[in-house]
Amino acid sequence: MATMQHCEQMCAPAFSFRSASRSASVLFIRQQRLVCTSLQLPSSRECAAACRFASFLSTIEHKFQGPGIMRMECVFGGAPEVTSRRLNVMCQASSDFRGPQPSELMLVSDLDFTMVDHNEPSHAALLRFSSLWEAEYAQKSLLVYSTGRSPEKFEEICKHVPLLTPDIAILSVGTEIRYGTSLQIDSEWETYLNDGWDREIIVQEAKKFLELSFQEDSEQRPHKVSFKVEKKDAQSIIDRLSPKLKEYGLKVKLIYSGSIDLDVVPLRAGKGEALAYILEKAKAEKWAPNNVLVCGDSGNDIELFAVEGVNGVIVENAHEELVKWYESQPVKTNICFASHRCAGGIIQALQHFGLGPHTSPRESIGQGGISWPNAGDSQIPNTNSPQREVVEFNVLFEKWLTGELPTTAATFERLKQVIAKKSSMVYPWGVERNLYDSVCLAQSKHGSMSGKNFLTWIDCIKEHQLAEGVYIVTWQSWEQSSGNGRKGYYVTAILLAKEGTPNGVEWFRVHETVRMID
Ligand code: GLC
Ligand code: MG
Repeated sequence: MATMQHCEQMCAPAFSFRSASRSASVLFIRQQRLVCTSLQLPSSRECAAACRFASFLSTIEHKFQGPGIMRMECVFGGAPEVTSRRLNVMCQASSDFRGPQPSELMLVSDLDFTMVDHNEPSHAALLRFSSLWEAEYAQKSLLVYSTGRSPEKFEEICKHVPLLTPDIAILSVGTEIRYGTSLQIDSEWETYLNDGWDREIIVQEAKKFLELSFQEDSEQRPHKVSFKVEKKDAQSIIDRLSPKLKEYGLKVKLIYSGSIDLDVVPLRAGKGEALAYILEKAKAEKWAPNNVLVCGDSGNDIELFAVEGVNGVIVENAHEELVKWYESQPVKTNICFASHRCAGGIIQALQHFGLGPHTSPRESIGQGGISWPNAGDSQIPNTNSPQREVVEFNVLFEKWLTGELPTTAATFERLKQVIAKKSSMVYPWGVERNLYDSVCLAQSKHGSMSGKNFLTWIDCIKEHQLAEGVYIVTWQSWEQSSGNGRKGYYVTAILLAKEGTPNGVEWFRVHETVRMID
């Protein structure tokens, strides 16, 4: 394991080379698989460094070729043209786009007032969803956000709200598609949207309507022109502006959302078209999901519900435009009109459509103590679940510190019983301790974070079985409390199968590293 961690460190962000006269392909870990990236290398010295790096990786491959680890190739090429670009290779061991592999569920959700309830500062429902997703779905399913927000506004909400990192982000009302944590742009999609599109003409024509006011600059995108317009004027503006733009030969659509926002986008774009495109691509590349659940609250989400083969949830707090559309649908069997707001409605839909577990660890671990689901509960798969253990332990620990859990010895026993006696933990500040002893010490910290809005959540969890009964789990953990901002950690843990524990595993080793916040 040490070698593997060493490798992860070597691959940590900014493994970089300057300028170029030689080309080489160097391997790095992505999605916990070794993949190749092309680098232009400046000198034989740096080329040699790359060779050494690659041969180091091949040593690892020999050592660890076995379940869960990884295929590698190494190709060194000739000397193409000289460029003097600086290449920074961002190597992410634990959190890049999860395709291509077939997934069970693709959950496609709008953000504002669907996944995120801006009226609920504690984000309780979102946190319930997040821990459910990370415990039960993250490993085999894909999380997709589909939002009207631009990349800039998307980053902004991620900084302020405890949102999970999505596998795919459909931004700017289906005009921009990004994959993985590096938000890799789908430029093929953007080229496809040029058909019948001329934003200058739209801007010119729109200026003639006094009722339309332009949204802020960040929301004006290459394939999206956005305005604010009062509800009473919206329909008449749409009825007049649409034919005008058609006269110019433009192929566009006008979408009204949230009883205030008007977006003009290419006819080929929109949340529905973008999702259909991704699903086609997934099919061709063999990572198509078995089920798709779309989730929305307003006008620009309507298209999502019309994508072939999807189930959908309209959250309880939906806007008039979407509610009216729903009421006008002759067949509603694939749509669940939730009785809960936002993320609460999404969880409800998982149950409604029988898509998988729907009890969040944050619910099963409640004020009354810990109520473990019965072994026969159909929600709980009959296998060891290291990732569920990681999420539950995290929630338990948080609730122990906030004092939400009763101080009984039995409660604390849940935490202790899953730690191997000879386990160890390497702390972010470079100290190694016996993990069992450390957990025992925390018993006296009950309630130490009470009244501080202390909050933790887990993101980007990945689990691999290394050998029979040996699991490596990686994730990012976040914590927040009043006045202290956000702190993040990269965590790698090894868990071992152990009968009689809540999730069939015990903790053996944990490494934590502070995450830089960008
Ligand atoms: C988001 C975007 C905005 C858009 C609206 C509706 O709020 O920031 O530009 O008009 O979604 O799609
Ligand atoms: Mg919304």
